[in-house]
Amino acid sequence: MKILVINGPNINMLGIREPEHYGKETYADLVTKIQKHCDSKDVEVKIFQSNHEGDIVDEIQKAYGNADGIVINPAAYTHTSVAILDAVKSVNIPTVEVHISKVEEREDFRQISYVRLACAKTITGHGTDGYLEAIDYLTEGK
Ligand code: DQA
Repeated sequence: MKILVINGPNINMLGIREPEHYGKETYADLVTKIQKHCDSKDVEVKIFQSNHEGDIVDEIQKAYGNADGIVINPAAYTHTSVAILDAVKSVNIPTVEVHISKVEEREDFRQISYVRLACAKTITGHGTDGYLEAIDYLTEGK
């Protein structure tokens, strides 16, 4: 089983940016946490982060034929990017949307998610544990 984890803009600033929303764990902590979880489940994982929409689209396209599941936190692109939605639709790989914060309790502009239209499940507000839950969903269906 191969999983691709994609994080969008400013997720590399975890631990520094708005800790009241995103907590104190750093991006390096998140990478370690995901890697350990996948190692314990014998799941192969690639963890990718970019601040650039086109690079995220490229990474999703590269997953075609190479990944069995995608975990994606498109960050701010969640609320704007039809290109990322279309990329996820194109590859037709089971995908779970994750948000660290409880987006549904935040600003109106965060209530729109384009990528959600192509996702099997959405997890919000569980902090970085949401990524592990998404991996469990993709590997075990729960
Ligand atoms: C986020 C929520 C988005 O609204 C925001 O732009 C982010 C992070 C989250 O993980 O809670 O950058 O996706």
